[in-house]
Amino acid sequence: MPLVFRTLLFGFVTLLVVVLIIDDIAEVEEETANPGHLKKMNLHRAIPKPHRKATAHVDPTAVTRVSKDVKPVGPSYNHTAKLSSNNWTFNKTLSNLIRKNILRFLDPERDISILKGTLKPGDIIHYVFDRHSTTNISENLYRLLPTVSPMKNQHHKRCAIVGNSGILLNSSCGPDIDSHDFVIRCNLAPVDEFSQDVGRRTNLVTMNPSVVQRAFQDLVSEEWRDRFLQRLQSLSGSVLWIPAFMAKGGEERVEWALRLILSHTVDVRTAFPSLRLLHAVRGYWLTNHVHIKRPTTGLLMYTMATRFCDEIHLYGFWPFSHDPQGKPVKYHYYDTLKYEYTSSSSPHTMPLEFRTLSALHRQGALRLHTGTCDADRRPEGAPEQVADNTSPWKPL
Ligand SMILES: *[C@@H]1O[C@H](CO)[C@@H](O)[C@H](O)[C@H]1NC(C)=O
Ligand SMILES: *[C@@H]1O[C@H](CO)[C@@H](O)[C@H](O)[C@H]1NC(C)=O
Ligand SMILES: *[C@@H]1O[C@H](CO)[C@@H](O)[C@H](O)[C@H]1NC(C)=O
Ligand SMILES: *[C@@H]1O[C@H](CO)[C@@H](O)[C@H](O)[C@H]1NC(C)=O
Ligand SMILES: *[C@@H]1O[C@H](CO)[C@@H](O)[C@H](O)[C@H]1NC(C)=O
Repeated sequence: MPLVFRTLLFGFVTLLVVVLIIDDIAEVEEETANPGHLKKMNLHRAIPKPHRKATAHVDPTAVTRVSKDVKPVGPSYNHTAKLSSNNWTFNKTLSNLIRKNILRFLDPERDISILKGTLKPGDIIHYVFDRHSTTNISENLYRLLPTVSPMKNQHHKRCAIVGNSGILLNSSCGPDIDSHDFVIRCNLAPVDEFSQDVGRRTNLVTMNPSVVQRAFQDLVSEEWRDRFLQRLQSLSGSVLWIPAFMAKGGEERVEWALRLILSHTVDVRTAFPSLRLLHAVRGYWLTNHVHIKRPTTGLLMYTMATRFCDEIHLYGFWPFSHDPQGKPVKYHYYDTLKYEYTSSSSPHTMPLEFRTLSALHRQGALRLHTGTCDADRRPEGAPEQVADNTSPWKPL
Protein backbone atom coordinates (compact mmCIF):
# COMPACT_ATOMS: atom_id res chain seq x y z
CA MET A 1 0.00 0.00 0.00
CA PRO A 2 1.48 3.38 -0.89
CA LEU A 3 2.42 5.48 2.10
CA VAL A 4 0.17 8.36 1.10
CA PHE A 5 -2.81 6.10 0.91
CA ARG A 6 -2.03 4.54 4.27
CA THR A 7 -1.68 7.95 5.84
CA LEU A 8 -5.00 9.03 4.40
CA LEU A 9 -6.65 5.89 5.65
CA PHE A 10 -5.18 6.37 9.10
CA GLY A 11 -6.37 9.97 9.13
CA PHE A 12 -9.84 8.93 8.14
CA VAL A 13 -10.09 6.25 10.81
CA THR A 14 -8.82 8.65 13.46
CA LEU A 15 -11.37 11.23 12.40
CA LEU A 16 -14.12 8.65 12.59
CA VAL A 17 -13.10 7.63 16.09
CA VAL A 18 -12.99 11.25 17.21
CA VAL A 19 -16.42 11.90 15.78
CA LEU A 20 -17.83 8.86 17.55
CA ILE A 21 -16.31 9.91 20.85
CA ILE A 22 -17.70 13.41 20.52
CA ASP A 23 -21.10 11.96 19.74
CA ASP A 24 -20.91 9.88 22.89
CA ILE A 25 -19.87 12.79 25.06
CA ALA A 26 -22.63 14.94 23.63
CA GLU A 27 -25.12 12.25 24.52
CA VAL A 28 -24.03 12.09 28.13
CA GLU A 29 -24.04 15.85 28.49
CA GLU A 30 -27.42 16.18 26.98
CA GLU A 31 -28.80 13.69 29.41
CA THR A 32 -27.20 15.22 32.45
CA ALA A 33 -28.17 18.72 31.43
CA ASN A 34 -31.79 18.06 32.06
CA PRO A 35 -32.24 15.55 34.83
CA GLY A 36 -35.71 16.75 35.73
CA HIS A 37 -37.18 16.46 32.26
CA LEU A 38 -36.87 12.89 31.27
CA LYS A 39 -40.37 12.62 29.93
CA LYS A 40 -40.34 14.91 26.99
CA MET A 41 -40.67 13.79 23.43
CA ASN A 42 -38.07 14.35 20.82
CA LEU A 43 -38.66 14.62 17.14
CA HIS A 44 -35.24 14.11 15.63
CA ARG A 45 -34.47 11.10 17.73
CA ALA A 46 -37.61 9.46 16.49
CA ILE A 47 -36.21 9.39 13.02
CA PRO A 48 -34.13 6.28 12.69
CA LYS A 49 -30.85 6.55 10.85
CA PRO A 50 -31.72 4.75 7.67
CA HIS A 51 -28.47 3.00 6.90
CA ARG A 52 -27.17 2.23 10.33
CA LYS A 53 -27.31 -1.51 10.39
CA ALA A 54 -26.50 -3.54 13.45
CA THR A 55 -23.90 -6.15 12.65
CA ALA A 56 -25.20 -9.19 14.43
CA HIS A 57 -28.54 -10.66 13.60
CA VAL A 58 -29.45 -12.52 16.69
CA ASP A 59 -33.19 -12.54 16.53
CA PRO A 60 -34.23 -12.65 12.91
CA THR A 61 -37.82 -13.64 13.54
CA ALA A 62 -38.69 -11.23 16.25
CA VAL A 63 -38.57 -7.64 15.20
CA THR A 64 -36.42 -7.36 12.13
CA ARG A 65 -39.47 -6.46 10.14
CA VAL A 66 -39.89 -3.44 12.29
CA SER A 67 -36.95 -1.67 10.78
CA LYS A 68 -38.51 -1.91 7.35
CA ASP A 69 -41.80 -0.59 8.67
CA VAL A 70 -40.12 2.35 10.27
CA LYS A 71 -40.61 5.49 8.27
CA PRO A 72 -39.39 8.98 8.94
CA VAL A 73 -41.62 10.68 11.38
CA GLY A 74 -43.06 14.01 10.41
CA PRO A 75 -46.12 16.09 10.82
CA SER A 76 -47.42 15.19 7.38
CA TYR A 77 -47.05 11.47 7.82
CA ASN A 78 -50.12 10.36 9.66
CA HIS A 79 -51.42 7.16 8.21
CA THR A 80 -53.10 5.06 10.87
CA ALA A 81 -53.14 1.32 10.68
CA LYS A 82 -56.22 -0.36 11.94
CA LEU A 83 -55.52 -3.49 13.90
CA SER A 84 -58.30 -5.73 14.88
CA SER A 85 -58.09 -6.87 18.44
CA ASN A 86 -60.85 -9.38 17.91
CA ASN A 87 -58.70 -11.81 16.01
CA TRP A 88 -55.48 -11.31 17.96
CA THR A 89 -53.94 -14.64 18.82
CA PHE A 90 -51.00 -15.33 21.04
CA ASN A 91 -48.02 -16.85 19.24
CA LYS A 92 -46.34 -18.93 21.89
CA THR A 93 -43.59 -20.06 19.54
CA LEU A 94 -42.58 -16.49 18.83
CA SER A 95 -42.87 -15.48 22.46
CA ASN A 96 -40.58 -18.34 23.50
CA LEU A 97 -38.12 -17.39 20.82
CA ILE A 98 -38.01 -13.78 22.00
CA ARG A 99 -37.47 -14.91 25.58
CA LYS A 100 -34.61 -17.12 24.49
CA ASN A 101 -32.96 -14.32 22.55
CA ILE A 102 -33.36 -11.78 25.32
CA LEU A 103 -31.68 -14.25 27.66
CA ARG A 104 -28.59 -13.99 25.49
CA PHE A 105 -28.29 -10.37 26.56
CA LEU A 106 -29.54 -10.37 30.13
CA ASP A 107 -31.07 -12.60 32.71
CA PRO A 108 -33.95 -10.57 34.08
CA GLU A 109 -34.16 -12.78 37.15
CA ARG A 110 -30.66 -11.69 38.06
CA ASP A 111 -30.52 -8.21 36.53
CA ILE A 112 -33.75 -7.06 38.12
CA SER A 113 -31.77 -6.34 41.28
CA ILE A 114 -28.34 -6.04 42.76
CA LEU A 115 -28.08 -8.55 45.59
CA LYS A 116 -26.73 -8.02 49.05
CA GLY A 117 -23.70 -10.25 48.69
CA THR A 118 -22.26 -8.26 45.83
CA LEU A 119 -21.86 -4.89 47.57
CA LYS A 120 -21.17 -3.43 50.97
CA PRO A 121 -21.94 -0.06 52.57
CA GLY A 122 -19.60 2.67 51.36
CA ASP A 123 -18.93 1.00 48.01
CA ILE A 124 -18.67 3.51 45.23
CA ILE A 125 -20.94 3.23 42.21
CA HIS A 126 -20.60 4.99 38.88
CA TYR A 127 -23.93 6.10 37.48
CA VAL A 128 -24.97 4.22 34.38
CA PHE A 129 -25.62 7.35 32.31
CA ASP A 130 -23.49 9.87 34.13
CA ARG A 131 -20.40 7.76 34.18
CA HIS A 132 -18.20 10.44 35.69
CA SER A 133 -20.38 10.88 38.73
CA THR A 134 -20.42 8.49 41.60
CA THR A 135 -22.50 7.71 44.61
CA ASN A 136 -21.86 5.34 47.46
CA ILE A 137 -23.93 2.59 48.96
CA SER A 138 -25.59 3.90 52.09
CA GLU A 139 -26.37 1.78 55.12
CA ASN A 140 -30.08 2.07 54.41
CA LEU A 141 -29.69 1.03 50.81
CA TYR A 142 -27.57 -1.89 51.85
CA ARG A 143 -30.18 -3.01 54.35
CA LEU A 144 -32.83 -2.94 51.64
CA LEU A 145 -30.88 -4.88 49.03
CA PRO A 146 -32.54 -8.26 48.56
CA THR A 147 -30.60 -11.40 49.39
CA VAL A 148 -32.25 -13.34 46.57
CA SER A 149 -33.87 -12.10 43.40
CA PRO A 150 -37.41 -10.92 44.14
CA MET A 151 -38.44 -12.68 40.93
CA LYS A 152 -36.67 -15.94 41.64
CA ASN A 153 -38.55 -18.92 40.20
CA GLN A 154 -41.54 -16.79 39.33
CA HIS A 155 -43.55 -17.80 36.36
CA HIS A 156 -46.89 -16.38 35.34
CA LYS A 157 -49.32 -17.21 32.61
CA ARG A 158 -50.70 -13.76 31.92
CA CYS A 159 -49.02 -10.51 32.89
CA ALA A 160 -50.14 -6.93 32.47
CA ILE A 161 -47.77 -4.01 32.13
CA VAL A 162 -49.56 -0.74 32.75
CA GLY A 163 -48.12 2.38 31.20
CA ASN A 164 -49.28 5.77 32.37
CA SER A 165 -50.79 7.32 29.26
CA GLY A 166 -54.05 9.24 29.47
CA ILE A 167 -55.41 6.81 26.88
CA LEU A 168 -56.49 4.76 29.90
CA LEU A 169 -59.00 7.38 31.01
CA ASN A 170 -62.58 6.20 30.42
CA SER A 171 -61.25 2.88 29.14
CA SER A 172 -62.95 0.77 31.84
CA CYS A 173 -59.91 -1.49 31.64
CA GLY A 174 -59.52 -1.78 35.42
CA PRO A 175 -61.17 -5.20 35.82
CA ASP A 176 -59.33 -6.54 32.77
CA ILE A 177 -56.00 -5.41 34.12
CA ASP A 178 -56.68 -6.84 37.55
CA SER A 179 -57.57 -10.20 36.05
CA HIS A 180 -53.93 -10.86 35.14
CA ASP A 181 -51.73 -13.09 37.26
CA PHE A 182 -49.05 -10.46 37.64
CA VAL A 183 -49.44 -6.70 37.23
CA ILE A 184 -46.54 -4.33 36.66
CA ARG A 185 -46.99 -0.58 37.05
CA CYS A 186 -44.72 2.35 36.44
CA ASN A 187 -43.52 5.22 38.62
CA LEU A 188 -45.85 4.76 41.57
CA ALA A 189 -48.77 5.96 39.47
CA PRO A 190 -51.87 6.40 41.62
CA VAL A 191 -54.56 3.74 41.30
CA ASP A 192 -57.27 4.34 43.88
CA GLU A 193 -58.98 7.28 42.20
CA PHE A 194 -58.67 5.63 38.78
CA SER A 195 -59.30 2.00 39.57
CA GLN A 196 -62.21 1.71 37.14
CA ASP A 197 -59.82 2.45 34.29
CA VAL A 198 -56.46 1.22 35.56
CA GLY A 199 -57.26 -1.41 38.19
CA ARG A 200 -55.66 -1.76 41.60
CA ARG A 201 -53.67 -4.92 41.60
CA THR A 202 -49.92 -4.31 41.74
CA ASN A 203 -47.24 -6.94 41.97
CA LEU A 204 -44.32 -4.82 40.86
CA VAL A 205 -44.07 -1.06 40.62
CA THR A 206 -41.18 1.09 39.53
CA MET A 207 -40.09 4.31 41.18
CA ASN A 208 -37.67 6.66 39.47
CA PRO A 209 -36.05 8.92 42.06
CA SER A 210 -37.58 11.92 40.26
CA VAL A 211 -41.06 10.70 41.23
CA VAL A 212 -40.41 11.77 44.79
CA GLN A 213 -39.95 15.28 43.48
CA ARG A 214 -42.58 15.35 40.80
CA ALA A 215 -45.46 13.49 42.38
CA PHE A 216 -44.72 14.04 46.05
CA GLN A 217 -43.29 17.57 46.13
CA ASP A 218 -39.93 16.39 47.43
CA LEU A 219 -41.67 15.52 50.71
CA VAL A 220 -41.46 19.17 51.76
CA SER A 221 -44.21 18.91 54.31
CA GLU A 222 -45.66 16.41 56.72
CA GLU A 223 -48.65 16.12 54.44
CA TRP A 224 -46.55 15.04 51.44
CA ARG A 225 -44.51 12.66 53.54
CA ASP A 226 -47.77 11.08 54.70
CA ARG A 227 -49.07 10.78 51.19
CA PHE A 228 -45.87 9.18 50.02
CA LEU A 229 -45.85 6.80 52.95
CA GLN A 230 -49.48 5.86 52.33
CA ARG A 231 -48.70 5.10 48.71
CA LEU A 232 -45.82 2.87 49.78
CA GLN A 233 -47.93 1.15 52.41
CA SER A 234 -50.67 0.47 49.88
CA LEU A 235 -48.21 -1.66 47.94
CA SER A 236 -48.44 -4.44 50.52
CA GLY A 237 -45.98 -7.08 49.46
CA SER A 238 -45.22 -5.80 45.97
CA VAL A 239 -41.79 -5.44 44.50
CA LEU A 240 -40.71 -1.79 44.55
CA TRP A 241 -38.17 -1.38 41.79
CA ILE A 242 -35.94 1.67 42.22
CA PRO A 243 -33.45 2.54 39.47
CA ALA A 244 -31.17 4.33 41.90
CA PHE A 245 -27.97 4.20 39.86
CA MET A 246 -29.08 5.35 36.41
CA ALA A 247 -28.69 9.12 36.50
CA LYS A 248 -27.12 11.34 39.10
CA GLY A 249 -29.12 13.77 41.16
CA GLY A 250 -31.56 11.40 42.81
CA GLU A 251 -29.55 10.01 45.69
CA GLU A 252 -31.15 12.18 48.36
CA ARG A 253 -34.62 11.29 47.21
CA VAL A 254 -33.83 7.62 47.17
CA GLU A 255 -32.41 7.96 50.66
CA TRP A 256 -35.56 9.67 51.97
CA ALA A 257 -37.71 6.92 50.53
CA LEU A 258 -35.53 4.20 51.99
CA ARG A 259 -35.55 5.84 55.40
CA LEU A 260 -39.36 5.98 55.36
CA ILE A 261 -39.58 2.34 54.36
CA LEU A 262 -37.22 1.26 57.11
CA SER A 263 -38.68 3.43 59.85
CA HIS A 264 -42.31 2.51 59.16
CA THR A 265 -41.87 -1.16 58.34
CA VAL A 266 -43.44 -0.77 54.94
CA ASP A 267 -44.22 -4.16 53.44
CA VAL A 268 -42.48 -3.91 50.06
CA ARG A 269 -39.70 -5.93 48.54
CA THR A 270 -37.21 -3.39 47.27
CA ALA A 271 -35.15 -4.07 44.16
CA PHE A 272 -32.37 -2.01 42.58
CA PRO A 273 -31.62 -2.84 38.95
CA SER A 274 -28.17 -4.08 38.08
CA LEU A 275 -25.71 -1.69 36.52
CA ARG A 276 -25.62 -3.68 33.30
CA LEU A 277 -29.37 -3.93 32.77
CA LEU A 278 -29.80 -0.80 30.65
CA HIS A 279 -26.95 -1.62 28.31
CA ALA A 280 -28.08 -5.20 27.93
CA VAL A 281 -31.65 -4.20 27.10
CA ARG A 282 -30.43 -1.62 24.65
CA GLY A 283 -28.13 -4.19 23.13
CA TYR A 284 -30.97 -6.60 22.54
CA TRP A 285 -33.07 -4.03 20.74
CA LEU A 286 -30.14 -2.61 18.77
CA THR A 287 -29.36 -6.06 17.52
CA ASN A 288 -32.89 -6.16 16.22
CA HIS A 289 -32.42 -2.83 14.44
CA VAL A 290 -34.43 -0.89 16.96
CA HIS A 291 -32.19 2.04 17.77
CA ILE A 292 -33.34 3.01 21.20
CA LYS A 293 -31.08 5.39 22.99
CA ARG A 294 -32.53 5.05 26.42
CA PRO A 295 -35.39 2.61 26.83
CA THR A 296 -38.44 3.83 28.69
CA THR A 297 -39.48 2.09 31.88
CA GLY A 298 -42.28 0.47 29.90
CA LEU A 299 -39.95 -1.12 27.37
CA LEU A 300 -37.58 -2.20 30.14
CA MET A 301 -40.47 -3.88 31.89
CA TYR A 302 -41.61 -5.63 28.74
CA THR A 303 -38.09 -6.86 28.05
CA MET A 304 -37.75 -8.22 31.57
CA ALA A 305 -41.28 -9.61 31.76
CA THR A 306 -40.60 -11.94 28.85
CA ARG A 307 -38.58 -13.97 31.36
CA PHE A 308 -41.42 -14.43 33.84
CA CYS A 309 -44.57 -14.31 31.75
CA ASP A 310 -46.14 -16.26 28.93
CA GLU A 311 -48.67 -13.78 27.60
CA ILE A 312 -47.82 -10.13 28.07
CA HIS A 313 -50.55 -7.51 27.81
CA LEU A 314 -49.70 -3.84 27.61
CA TYR A 315 -52.12 -1.12 28.71
CA GLY A 316 -51.65 2.62 28.82
CA PHE A 317 -48.95 2.74 26.16
CA TRP A 318 -49.79 5.62 23.86
CA PRO A 319 -47.14 8.26 23.14
CA PHE A 320 -49.36 10.51 21.06
CA SER A 321 -51.29 13.60 21.98
CA HIS A 322 -54.47 12.45 20.23
CA ASP A 323 -56.31 9.18 20.07
CA PRO A 324 -57.23 7.52 16.76
CA GLN A 325 -60.52 9.45 16.75
CA GLY A 326 -58.65 12.72 17.11
CA LYS A 327 -59.56 13.37 20.74
CA PRO A 328 -56.81 14.84 22.93
CA VAL A 329 -55.02 12.35 25.18
CA LYS A 330 -53.29 13.36 28.40
CA TYR A 331 -49.63 12.48 28.75
CA HIS A 332 -50.28 10.82 32.11
CA TYR A 333 -53.70 9.71 33.23
CA TYR A 334 -53.15 11.24 36.66
CA ASP A 335 -51.43 14.61 36.27
CA THR A 336 -51.13 17.62 34.05
CA LEU A 337 -47.71 17.00 32.55
CA LYS A 338 -47.69 18.11 28.92
CA TYR A 339 -46.11 16.70 25.84
CA GLU A 340 -43.26 18.76 24.55
CA TYR A 341 -42.58 17.55 21.07
CA THR A 342 -40.16 20.27 20.22
CA SER A 343 -37.89 19.57 23.13
CA SER A 344 -34.53 18.14 22.24
CA SER A 345 -33.75 17.03 25.76
CA SER A 346 -35.60 13.76 25.89
CA PRO A 347 -33.52 10.65 25.87
CA HIS A 348 -36.55 8.54 25.00
CA THR A 349 -37.83 7.57 21.59
CA MET A 350 -41.35 6.66 22.44
CA PRO A 351 -42.91 6.65 18.98
CA LEU A 352 -40.17 4.28 17.83
CA GLU A 353 -40.76 2.06 20.83
CA PHE A 354 -44.45 2.14 20.12
CA ARG A 355 -44.00 1.11 16.50
CA THR A 356 -41.87 -1.75 17.69
CA LEU A 357 -44.48 -2.89 20.15
CA SER A 358 -47.17 -2.52 17.48
CA ALA A 359 -45.22 -4.79 15.18
CA LEU A 360 -44.86 -7.33 17.97
CA HIS A 361 -48.60 -7.06 18.60
CA ARG A 362 -49.32 -7.83 14.96
CA GLN A 363 -47.09 -10.86 15.16
CA GLY A 364 -48.82 -12.14 18.28
CA ALA A 365 -45.81 -11.81 20.57
CA LEU A 366 -47.60 -9.43 22.94
CA ARG A 367 -50.88 -7.63 23.04
CA LEU A 368 -51.25 -3.87 23.06
CA HIS A 369 -54.56 -2.64 24.42
CA THR A 370 -55.29 0.87 23.26
CA GLY A 371 -59.06 0.92 23.11
CA THR A 372 -61.73 0.55 25.72
CA CYS A 373 -62.20 -2.73 27.53
CA ASP A 374 -65.91 -2.59 28.06
CA ALA A 375 -67.22 -4.16 24.85
CA ASP A 376 -70.64 -2.54 25.21
CA ARG A 377 -69.15 0.90 25.05
CA ARG A 378 -67.26 0.43 21.84
CA PRO A 379 -69.20 1.40 18.74
CA GLU A 380 -70.58 -1.64 16.96
CA GLY A 381 -67.86 -3.46 15.05
CA ALA A 382 -65.31 -0.74 15.60
CA PRO A 383 -61.88 -2.28 15.82
CA GLU A 384 -59.41 -1.33 18.41
CA GLN A 385 -56.88 0.83 16.66
CA VAL A 386 -53.18 0.87 16.90
CA ALA A 387 -51.32 3.64 15.18
CA ASP A 388 -48.54 2.48 12.96
CA ASN A 389 -46.72 5.76 13.24
CA THR A 390 -47.03 9.03 15.02
CA SER A 391 -50.48 9.76 13.73
CA PRO A 392 -52.42 11.69 14.63
CA TRP A 393 -50.23 13.83 16.74
CA LYS A 394 -49.43 17.35 15.74
CA PRO A 395 -46.24 19.15 16.60
CA LEU A 396 -46.82 22.20 18.73
C1 LIG B 1 -57.67 -9.79 11.52
O1 LIG B 1 -58.58 -8.76 11.24
C2 LIG B 1 -58.10 -7.82 10.30
C3 LIG B 1 -59.11 -6.70 10.17
O2 LIG B 1 -60.36 -7.07 10.66
C4 LIG B 1 -57.83 -8.50 8.96
O3 LIG B 1 -57.33 -7.56 8.04
C5 LIG B 1 -56.80 -9.59 9.18
O4 LIG B 1 -56.58 -10.31 7.98
C6 LIG B 1 -57.26 -10.55 10.27
N1 LIG B 1 -56.20 -11.47 10.55
C7 LIG B 1 -56.39 -12.76 10.69
C8 LIG B 1 -55.19 -13.57 11.01
O5 LIG B 1 -57.49 -13.27 10.57
C1 LIG C 1 -45.57 -17.77 15.19
O1 LIG C 1 -44.26 -17.28 15.12
C2 LIG C 1 -43.36 -18.17 14.48
C3 LIG C 1 -41.98 -17.60 14.67
O2 LIG C 1 -41.94 -16.26 14.24
C4 LIG C 1 -43.76 -18.30 13.03
O3 LIG C 1 -42.88 -19.16 12.36
C5 LIG C 1 -45.18 -18.84 12.97
O4 LIG C 1 -45.64 -18.86 11.66
C6 LIG C 1 -46.12 -17.99 13.81
N1 LIG C 1 -47.40 -18.66 13.91
C7 LIG C 1 -48.53 -18.07 13.60
C8 LIG C 1 -49.77 -18.86 13.78
O5 LIG C 1 -48.57 -16.92 13.19
C1 LIG D 1 -20.54 7.80 51.54
O1 LIG D 1 -21.50 8.80 51.66
C2 LIG D 1 -21.65 9.32 52.95
C3 LIG D 1 -22.78 10.30 52.92
O2 LIG D 1 -23.86 9.81 52.20
C4 LIG D 1 -20.37 9.97 53.41
O3 LIG D 1 -20.52 10.44 54.73
C5 LIG D 1 -19.26 8.98 53.32
O4 LIG D 1 -18.05 9.61 53.62
C6 LIG D 1 -19.18 8.36 51.95
N1 LIG D 1 -18.21 7.31 51.96
C7 LIG D 1 -17.29 7.19 51.01
C8 LIG D 1 -16.37 6.04 51.15
O5 LIG D 1 -17.24 7.94 50.08
C1 LIG E 1 -64.55 10.60 30.32
O1 LIG E 1 -65.94 10.57 30.36
C2 LIG E 1 -66.51 11.67 31.04
C3 LIG E 1 -68.02 11.44 31.13
O2 LIG E 1 -68.53 10.98 29.92
C4 LIG E 1 -66.17 12.94 30.29
O3 LIG E 1 -66.68 14.06 30.96
C5 LIG E 1 -64.66 13.07 30.20
O4 LIG E 1 -64.31 14.18 29.41
C6 LIG E 1 -64.06 11.83 29.59
N1 LIG E 1 -62.61 11.94 29.66
C7 LIG E 1 -61.83 11.64 28.64
C8 LIG E 1 -60.38 11.81 28.85
O5 LIG E 1 -62.26 11.20 27.58
C1 LIG F 1 -53.11 13.64 7.74
O1 LIG F 1 -52.56 13.79 6.44
C2 LIG F 1 -53.48 14.34 5.52
C3 LIG F 1 -52.83 14.38 4.17
O2 LIG F 1 -51.49 14.00 4.21
C4 LIG F 1 -53.87 15.74 5.98
O3 LIG F 1 -54.82 16.28 5.10
C5 LIG F 1 -54.47 15.65 7.37
O4 LIG F 1 -54.75 16.95 7.85
C6 LIG F 1 -53.52 14.98 8.32
N1 LIG F 1 -54.18 14.81 9.60
C7 LIG F 1 -53.55 15.08 10.73
C8 LIG F 1 -54.33 14.81 11.96
O5 LIG F 1 -52.41 15.50 10.78
